[in-house]
Amino acid sequence: MRIFQKIKDLQVEIIKQKLSGKKIGFVPTMGFLHEGHVELIKRARADSDIVVLSIFVNPLQFGPNEDFDSYPRDIKRDEEIAVQNGVDFLFYPTVEEMYPTKTTVTAIANNKVNVLCGKSRVGHFDGVVTVVTKLFNIVQPNKAYFGLKDAQQVAIIHSLIEDFNFPIELVEVPTIREVDGLAKSSRNVYLSDSERNEAVEINRSLDLAIEAINNGENNNDVIIDLIRNNIEDKTSGTIDYVEIYSYPELQNITEIKGKLIIAIAVKFSRARLIDNKIIEI
Ligand code: PAF
Repeated sequence: MRIFQKIKDLQVEIIKQKLSGKKIGFVPTMGFLHEGHVELIKRARADSDIVVLSIFVNPLQFGPNEDFDSYPRDIKRDEEIAVQNGVDFLFYPTVEEMYPTKTTVTAIANNKVNVLCGKSRVGHFDGVVTVVTKLFNIVQPNKAYFGLKDAQQVAIIHSLIEDFNFPIELVEVPTIREVDGLAKSSRNVYLSDSERNEAVEINRSLDLAIEAINNGENNNDVIIDLIRNNIEDKTSGTIDYVEIYSYPELQNITEIKGKLIIAIAVKFSRARLIDNKIIEI
C-alpha cells in the first residue's frame, strides 16, 4: 500500500493509473476504521483495479460545539486495517494540505438538509459536499462507496453527483451492525458500559416500528410515538429526532407508503448516535 499526503502526488499517480485503463474505487472516511468501513473497502476491492481510501477528519463539517478535536483518531491501526483489506492507495492529507488558505469557494447543499441531522447540525452537509467535491476531483474514481448508516449523506451525495455532473457511480452499502444490532460507528467508543447496553434499543425501536408497519399500522405519528416511547422508557439518552420521510427525496409523507426512511438520533453523555431503516411498502 502506498501512502499519499500530498494532493499533487496522488493526482499524478491517479492519472497514470487511469491512462493505463485502471478502474478506481474510492472509499472516503474520517478514519478510526471499523467493520462498516471494512465492508466499504471490501466492496471497492471486489469491483475495482485500484482501491483508494481517504482518511481526513474534515473540520468544515463540524460545528463550533461539536467533537472535531476529540474525534477518535488512530492512523497506525487504520493503516494496518487498510493493508489487511487490500487498499492500494491511502490518502491521508493534513488540514493545511486540503485547505491551505481560507476557502473562497465552497459547495452548499440547498435541498434535503432541513431534516434529520441537517436540522440540528447546521452547515454540516455544506462541509460534507465541499470536501467530497474536492476528494472526487483529486481521486477521480469510477465508483465511490458510502454507508447507508448515514442515509441522509448518501441522499445528498446522489444530488451532488447529479447536479455537478461527476461521472461517478455511487455504491450504497448497507449498515454493518454489532451482534446485538447496534450500528457500527466510530463514536460507539464514547459510550459508557451502561449506555452501550441501552444503545441496542435504537435498533430495537426501528425493528418494533417495522413490525407495527408490517402488522398494518400506516399512521406515521403512531410509529414515531412507538419509537420515542421505547427509547425514553429503556435508555438514559435524549432523543434528538425520530423522523420518517420518503427516500431518497427526504420529503414529508402523509401515510406509510412507498420507499421510506425511518431515522433516529439519540444523544448519550459523550456520543450522539444515529441509525435508520429504509423500507419499501
Ligand atoms: O461519512 C464520512 O465519514 C464523512 O462525512 C466523509 C464522507 C468522509 C466526508 O468527510
